[in-house]
Amino acid sequence: MNKHIAVIRGDGIGPEIVEQALAVLDKIAALYGHTFTYTSVDMGGCAIDKYGDPLPDHELEKCLASDSVLLGAVGGDKWNSFPGHLRPEKGLLRLRAGMGVYSNNRPAKIWRQLADASPLKASIVAQGIDFIIVRELIGGIYFGAHQTENGVATDVLQYSEAEIERIGRIGFETARKRRGKLCSVEKSNVLDSSRLWKTVMHRLAAEYPDVTLSDMLVDNCAMQIVKNPAQFDVIVTENMFGDILSDEASMITGSIGMIPSSSLGQSSCGLYEPIHGSAPDIAGKDIANPIGTILSAAMMLRYSFDLPKEADAIENAVSAVLDAGYRTADIMSQGMIQIGCKECGEQILRHLQ
Ligand code: IPM
Ligand code: MG
Repeated sequence: MNKHIAVIRGDGIGPEIVEQALAVLDKIAALYGHTFTYTSVDMGGCAIDKYGDPLPDHELEKCLASDSVLLGAVGGDKWNSFPGHLRPEKGLLRLRAGMGVYSNNRPAKIWRQLADASPLKASIVAQGIDFIIVRELIGGIYFGAHQTENGVATDVLQYSEAEIERIGRIGFETARKRRGKLCSVEKSNVLDSSRLWKTVMHRLAAEYPDVTLSDMLVDNCAMQIVKNPAQFDVIVTENMFGDILSDEASMITGSIGMIPSSSLGQSSCGLYEPIHGSAPDIAGKDIANPIGTILSAAMMLRYSFDLPKEADAIENAVSAVLDAGYRTADIMSQGMIQIGCKECGEQILRHLQ
Protein backbone atom coordinates (compact mmCIF):
# COMPACT_ATOMS: atom_id res chain seq x y z
CA MET A 1 0.00 0.00 0.00
CA ASN A 2 1.19 3.51 -0.87
CA LYS A 3 0.12 6.32 1.44
CA HIS A 4 1.02 9.93 1.63
CA ILE A 5 1.07 11.43 5.12
CA ALA A 6 1.18 15.12 6.01
CA VAL A 7 3.36 15.51 9.11
CA ILE A 8 2.99 18.44 11.49
CA ARG A 9 5.74 18.44 14.09
CA GLY A 10 4.57 21.68 15.68
CA ASP A 11 6.07 23.21 18.81
CA GLY A 12 7.54 22.19 22.17
CA ILE A 13 7.88 18.43 22.43
CA GLY A 14 6.09 18.03 19.06
CA PRO A 15 9.20 17.40 16.91
CA GLU A 16 10.75 14.80 19.25
CA ILE A 17 7.59 12.72 19.72
CA VAL A 18 6.73 12.84 16.01
CA GLU A 19 10.23 11.64 15.15
CA GLN A 20 9.62 8.47 17.15
CA ALA A 21 6.23 7.90 15.52
CA LEU A 22 7.73 8.27 12.03
CA ALA A 23 10.42 5.71 12.88
CA VAL A 24 7.65 3.31 13.91
CA LEU A 25 5.74 3.94 10.65
CA ASP A 26 8.92 3.35 8.64
CA LYS A 27 9.52 0.06 10.40
CA ILE A 28 5.90 -1.01 9.74
CA ALA A 29 6.34 -0.09 6.07
CA ALA A 30 9.48 -2.25 5.87
CA LEU A 31 7.94 -5.18 7.73
CA TYR A 32 4.65 -5.26 5.85
CA GLY A 33 5.71 -4.04 2.41
CA HIS A 34 4.04 -0.62 2.38
CA THR A 35 5.36 2.75 1.24
CA PHE A 36 4.65 5.77 3.39
CA THR A 37 5.81 9.13 2.10
CA TYR A 38 5.76 12.28 4.19
CA THR A 39 5.28 15.99 3.58
CA SER A 40 6.23 18.38 6.36
CA VAL A 41 3.63 20.97 7.23
CA ASP A 42 4.30 24.08 9.33
CA MET A 43 1.57 24.81 11.82
CA GLY A 44 1.39 26.53 15.21
CA GLY A 45 3.97 28.79 16.78
CA CYS A 46 6.67 27.78 14.29
CA ALA A 47 4.37 28.87 11.43
CA ILE A 48 3.66 32.18 13.17
CA ASP A 49 7.41 32.78 13.38
CA LYS A 50 7.95 31.82 9.75
CA TYR A 51 4.85 33.23 8.02
CA GLY A 52 3.07 35.38 10.61
CA ASP A 53 0.14 32.94 10.40
CA PRO A 54 -0.44 29.76 12.46
CA LEU A 55 -1.69 27.85 9.39
CA PRO A 56 -1.27 29.57 6.04
CA ASP A 57 -3.49 28.29 3.19
CA HIS A 58 -0.55 26.68 1.41
CA GLU A 59 0.17 24.55 4.48
CA LEU A 60 -3.51 23.58 4.93
CA GLU A 61 -3.56 22.59 1.24
CA LYS A 62 -0.79 20.07 1.87
CA CYS A 63 -2.94 18.43 4.55
CA LEU A 64 -6.01 18.35 2.32
CA ALA A 65 -3.95 16.71 -0.45
CA SER A 66 -2.70 13.95 1.88
CA ASP A 67 -4.16 10.55 2.77
CA SER A 68 -4.01 11.55 6.45
CA VAL A 69 -2.33 13.94 8.84
CA LEU A 70 -0.09 13.10 11.81
CA LEU A 71 0.31 15.90 14.34
CA GLY A 72 2.56 16.33 17.38
CA ALA A 73 1.46 19.37 19.38
CA VAL A 74 1.32 23.13 19.04
CA GLY A 75 1.63 26.13 21.36
CA GLY A 76 4.05 27.64 23.85
CA ASP A 77 4.64 30.55 26.22
CA LYS A 78 6.29 32.57 23.50
CA TRP A 79 2.97 33.07 21.69
CA ASN A 80 0.69 33.25 24.74
CA SER A 81 0.29 37.01 24.60
CA PHE A 82 -0.59 37.01 20.89
CA PRO A 83 -4.17 38.00 19.94
CA GLY A 84 -6.69 35.14 19.52
CA HIS A 85 -6.51 34.94 15.73
CA LEU A 86 -2.72 34.74 15.87
CA ARG A 87 -2.27 32.01 18.41
CA PRO A 88 -0.79 28.59 17.60
CA GLU A 89 -4.05 26.91 18.70
CA LYS A 90 -5.89 28.84 16.00
CA GLY A 91 -3.89 26.88 13.43
CA LEU A 92 -5.11 23.62 14.95
CA LEU A 93 -8.72 24.79 14.96
CA ARG A 94 -8.42 25.94 11.36
CA LEU A 95 -6.94 22.58 10.41
CA ARG A 96 -9.74 20.62 12.09
CA ALA A 97 -12.40 22.80 10.46
CA GLY A 98 -10.59 22.84 7.09
CA MET A 99 -10.43 19.04 7.06
CA GLY A 100 -14.05 18.83 8.23
CA VAL A 101 -13.12 16.33 10.95
CA TYR A 102 -16.15 16.69 13.16
CA SER A 103 -15.73 13.47 15.08
CA ASN A 104 -12.92 13.18 17.62
CA ASN A 105 -12.42 9.80 19.22
CA ARG A 106 -10.47 9.70 22.51
CA PRO A 107 -10.06 6.34 24.20
CA ALA A 108 -9.66 6.12 27.97
CA LYS A 109 -8.32 2.67 28.58
CA ILE A 110 -6.08 1.59 31.38
CA TRP A 111 -3.06 -0.48 30.45
CA ARG A 112 -2.87 -3.28 33.00
CA GLN A 113 0.87 -2.54 33.38
CA LEU A 114 0.07 1.02 34.45
CA ALA A 115 -2.62 0.33 37.06
CA ASP A 116 -0.22 1.77 39.67
CA ALA A 117 0.13 5.03 37.77
CA SER A 118 -3.58 5.82 38.10
CA PRO A 119 -4.36 8.32 40.87
CA LEU A 120 -7.57 6.39 41.59
CA LYS A 121 -7.91 3.84 44.40
CA ALA A 122 -6.88 0.33 43.38
CA SER A 123 -10.40 -0.91 44.13
CA ILE A 124 -11.85 1.46 41.52
CA VAL A 125 -9.17 0.69 38.93
CA ALA A 126 -9.81 -3.03 39.44
CA GLN A 127 -13.36 -2.63 38.09
CA GLY A 128 -11.85 -1.71 34.72
CA ILE A 129 -11.47 1.53 32.79
CA ASP A 130 -12.27 1.16 29.11
CA PHE A 131 -14.38 3.82 27.50
CA ILE A 132 -14.28 6.20 24.56
CA ILE A 133 -15.14 9.87 24.45
CA VAL A 134 -16.65 10.89 21.12
CA ARG A 135 -16.16 14.64 21.05
CA GLU A 136 -17.79 16.98 18.53
CA LEU A 137 -14.78 18.83 17.14
CA ILE A 138 -15.69 21.62 14.74
CA GLY A 139 -18.68 23.35 16.29
CA GLY A 140 -19.89 24.87 19.52
CA ILE A 141 -18.22 27.61 21.49
CA TYR A 142 -14.81 27.02 19.90
CA PHE A 143 -16.17 28.16 16.55
CA GLY A 144 -18.76 30.78 17.52
CA ALA A 145 -17.93 34.48 17.26
CA HIS A 146 -15.35 35.67 19.80
CA GLN A 147 -15.13 39.31 20.70
CA THR A 148 -13.90 41.65 23.42
CA GLU A 149 -15.28 45.18 23.40
CA ASN A 150 -15.48 47.89 26.05
CA GLY A 151 -14.51 45.51 28.80
CA VAL A 152 -17.04 42.86 27.77
CA ALA A 153 -15.95 39.55 26.27
CA THR A 154 -18.33 37.34 24.30
CA ASP A 155 -18.04 33.77 22.98
CA VAL A 156 -21.01 32.33 21.13
CA LEU A 157 -22.10 28.71 21.71
CA GLN A 158 -24.28 27.47 18.88
CA TYR A 159 -25.24 24.03 17.55
CA SER A 160 -27.58 23.12 14.73
CA GLU A 161 -29.64 19.92 14.68
CA ALA A 162 -27.62 18.70 11.71
CA GLU A 163 -24.33 19.16 13.57
CA ILE A 164 -25.68 17.29 16.59
CA GLU A 165 -27.16 14.52 14.50
CA ARG A 166 -23.96 13.69 12.62
CA ILE A 167 -21.87 13.40 15.79
CA GLY A 168 -24.74 11.59 17.52
CA ARG A 169 -24.68 8.93 14.80
CA ILE A 170 -20.95 8.40 15.37
CA GLY A 171 -21.68 7.94 19.06
CA PHE A 172 -24.37 5.33 18.41
CA GLU A 173 -22.29 3.52 15.81
CA THR A 174 -19.24 3.46 18.10
CA ALA A 175 -21.35 2.04 20.94
CA ARG A 176 -22.89 -0.54 18.61
CA LYS A 177 -19.40 -1.95 17.88
CA ARG A 178 -18.54 -2.06 21.60
CA ARG A 179 -20.68 -2.87 24.63
CA GLY A 180 -23.78 -1.09 23.31
CA LYS A 181 -23.93 1.68 25.93
CA LEU A 182 -24.02 5.33 24.95
CA CYS A 183 -24.01 8.16 27.48
CA SER A 184 -24.94 11.57 26.08
CA VAL A 185 -23.36 14.33 28.17
CA GLU A 186 -24.75 17.87 28.22
CA LYS A 187 -25.92 20.68 30.48
CA SER A 188 -29.61 20.61 29.60
CA ASN A 189 -30.62 22.05 32.98
CA VAL A 190 -29.09 25.37 31.86
CA LEU A 191 -28.26 25.57 28.15
CA ASP A 192 -30.57 25.69 25.12
CA SER A 193 -27.89 24.10 22.97
CA SER A 194 -27.82 21.18 25.41
CA ARG A 195 -31.60 20.81 25.38
CA LEU A 196 -31.47 20.54 21.59
CA TRP A 197 -28.59 18.09 21.93
CA LYS A 198 -30.64 15.86 24.21
CA THR A 199 -33.72 16.00 21.96
CA VAL A 200 -31.71 14.99 18.90
CA MET A 201 -29.97 12.14 20.74
CA HIS A 202 -33.31 10.70 21.83
CA ARG A 203 -34.73 11.01 18.34
CA LEU A 204 -31.72 9.08 16.98
CA ALA A 205 -32.07 6.41 19.65
CA ALA A 206 -35.12 5.01 17.84
CA GLU A 207 -32.84 4.07 14.93
CA TYR A 208 -30.40 2.21 17.18
CA PRO A 209 -32.53 -0.17 19.26
CA ASP A 210 -29.45 -2.28 20.04
CA VAL A 211 -27.81 0.66 21.87
CA THR A 212 -28.88 1.78 25.35
CA LEU A 213 -28.85 5.57 25.58
CA SER A 214 -28.49 7.40 28.88
CA ASP A 215 -28.20 11.12 29.66
CA MET A 216 -25.83 12.75 32.10
CA LEU A 217 -25.19 16.35 33.05
CA VAL A 218 -21.60 17.32 32.43
CA ASP A 219 -20.84 18.26 36.04
CA ASN A 220 -22.13 14.92 37.24
CA CYS A 221 -20.14 13.18 34.50
CA ALA A 222 -16.94 14.84 35.72
CA MET A 223 -17.68 13.31 39.11
CA GLN A 224 -18.73 9.88 37.82
CA ILE A 225 -15.52 9.52 35.79
CA VAL A 226 -13.49 9.43 38.99
CA LYS A 227 -16.11 7.72 41.16
CA ASN A 228 -17.14 4.86 38.90
CA PRO A 229 -15.41 4.91 35.51
CA ALA A 230 -16.38 1.28 34.81
CA GLN A 231 -19.97 2.40 34.13
CA PHE A 232 -18.94 4.07 30.85
CA ASP A 233 -18.67 2.50 27.41
CA VAL A 234 -19.08 5.43 24.99
CA ILE A 235 -19.61 9.08 25.93
CA VAL A 236 -20.79 11.47 23.24
CA THR A 237 -20.56 15.17 23.94
CA GLU A 238 -20.06 18.64 22.52
CA ASN A 239 -16.72 20.27 21.80
CA MET A 240 -15.77 22.01 25.04
CA PHE A 241 -17.24 19.43 27.40
CA GLY A 242 -15.31 16.78 25.46
CA ASP A 243 -12.10 18.78 25.76
CA ILE A 244 -12.40 18.97 29.53
CA LEU A 245 -13.69 15.45 30.18
CA SER A 246 -11.02 13.86 27.96
CA ASP A 247 -8.21 15.42 30.02
CA GLU A 248 -9.84 14.07 33.16
CA ALA A 249 -10.41 10.64 31.61
CA SER A 250 -6.81 10.42 30.43
CA MET A 251 -5.46 11.14 33.88
CA ILE A 252 -7.27 8.25 35.54
CA THR A 253 -5.58 5.89 33.07
CA GLY A 254 -2.17 6.96 34.34
CA SER A 255 -0.90 9.69 32.06
CA ILE A 256 -2.16 12.03 29.41
CA GLY A 257 1.06 11.12 27.56
CA MET A 258 -0.37 7.71 26.67
CA ILE A 259 -3.58 8.76 24.93
CA PRO A 260 -3.94 8.97 21.15
CA SER A 261 -6.86 10.36 19.19
CA SER A 262 -8.41 10.17 15.78
CA SER A 263 -10.49 12.86 14.12
CA LEU A 264 -12.59 11.96 11.12
CA GLY A 265 -15.17 13.55 8.89
CA GLN A 266 -16.86 12.40 5.70
CA SER A 267 -13.76 10.95 4.00
CA SER A 268 -11.07 8.48 5.07
CA CYS A 269 -8.51 11.30 5.41
CA GLY A 270 -8.16 11.74 9.17
CA LEU A 271 -6.20 13.80 11.64
CA TYR A 272 -4.25 11.85 14.24
CA GLU A 273 -2.75 13.47 17.33
CA PRO A 274 -1.97 12.71 20.96
CA ILE A 275 -4.39 14.53 23.25
CA HIS A 276 -1.66 16.23 25.28
CA GLY A 277 -0.20 19.64 24.56
CA SER A 278 3.26 20.83 23.54
CA ALA A 279 4.70 20.75 27.11
CA PRO A 280 7.25 23.54 26.51
CA ASP A 281 8.71 23.02 29.99
CA ILE A 282 10.13 19.64 29.01
CA ALA A 283 10.77 20.30 25.31
CA GLY A 284 14.17 19.26 23.96
CA LYS A 285 15.07 17.39 27.15
CA ASP A 286 14.37 13.93 25.74
CA ILE A 287 11.97 13.08 28.57
CA ALA A 288 8.59 13.36 26.82
CA ASN A 289 6.44 10.26 26.37
CA PRO A 290 6.09 9.50 22.63
CA ILE A 291 3.53 6.72 23.15
CA GLY A 292 0.43 8.92 22.64
CA THR A 293 1.78 9.92 19.21
CA ILE A 294 2.90 6.40 18.32
CA LEU A 295 -0.55 5.06 19.20
CA SER A 296 -2.07 7.88 17.11
CA ALA A 297 -0.07 6.56 14.15
CA ALA A 298 -1.52 3.11 14.91
CA MET A 299 -5.02 4.60 14.84
CA MET A 300 -4.21 6.13 11.44
CA LEU A 301 -3.32 2.70 10.10
CA ARG A 302 -6.49 1.19 11.56
CA TYR A 303 -9.09 3.83 10.76
CA SER A 304 -7.84 5.64 7.66
CA PHE A 305 -5.74 2.99 5.88
CA ASP A 306 -7.67 -0.11 6.96
CA LEU A 307 -4.52 -1.87 8.18
CA PRO A 308 -5.66 -3.53 11.42
CA LYS A 309 -2.80 -6.06 11.57
CA GLU A 310 -0.22 -3.32 11.40
CA ALA A 311 -2.07 -1.27 14.03
CA ASP A 312 -2.22 -4.32 16.31
CA ALA A 313 1.51 -4.81 15.83
CA ILE A 314 2.23 -1.29 17.12
CA GLU A 315 -0.12 -1.64 20.09
CA ASN A 316 1.41 -5.02 20.96
CA ALA A 317 4.91 -3.55 20.77
CA VAL A 318 3.90 -0.77 23.18
CA SER A 319 2.45 -3.34 25.53
CA ALA A 320 5.63 -5.45 25.32
CA VAL A 321 7.79 -2.44 26.19
CA LEU A 322 5.60 -1.75 29.24
CA ASP A 323 5.81 -5.45 30.16
CA ALA A 324 9.60 -5.21 29.98
CA GLY A 325 9.41 -2.50 32.65
CA TYR A 326 10.41 0.52 30.57
CA ARG A 327 8.75 3.80 31.57
CA THR A 328 9.10 7.43 30.59
CA ALA A 329 9.12 9.89 33.50
CA ASP A 330 5.37 10.59 33.42
CA ILE A 331 4.49 6.93 34.04
CA MET A 332 7.51 5.99 36.13
CA SER A 333 6.92 3.93 39.25
CA GLN A 334 9.09 2.08 41.72
CA GLY A 335 11.13 -0.81 40.39
CA MET A 336 10.71 0.22 36.75
CA ILE A 337 13.42 1.32 34.33
CA GLN A 338 13.24 5.00 33.45
CA ILE A 339 13.94 5.86 29.83
CA GLY A 340 13.79 8.96 27.65
CA CYS A 341 11.69 9.79 24.60
CA LYS A 342 14.20 8.48 22.07
CA GLU A 343 14.87 5.26 23.89
CA CYS A 344 11.17 4.67 24.34
CA GLY A 345 10.79 4.89 20.55
CA GLU A 346 13.76 2.57 20.05
CA GLN A 347 12.38 0.00 22.47
CA ILE A 348 9.07 0.01 20.60
CA LEU A 349 10.93 -0.52 17.30
CA ARG A 350 12.83 -3.41 18.84
CA HIS A 351 9.59 -5.08 19.93
CA LEU A 352 7.82 -4.55 16.58
CA GLN A 353 7.35 -7.65 14.51
C1 IPM B 1 -7.09 19.38 22.68
C2 IPM B 1 -6.44 20.70 23.00
C3 IPM B 1 -6.97 21.73 22.01
C4 IPM B 1 -8.47 21.83 22.20
C5 IPM B 1 -6.32 23.13 22.14
C6 IPM B 1 -4.82 23.04 21.98
C7 IPM B 1 -6.90 24.10 21.17
O1 IPM B 1 -6.67 21.06 24.31
O2 IPM B 1 -6.90 18.87 21.56
O3 IPM B 1 -7.77 18.85 23.55
O4 IPM B 1 -8.93 22.53 23.11
O5 IPM B 1 -9.18 21.20 21.43
MG1 MG C 1 -7.67 19.55 25.46
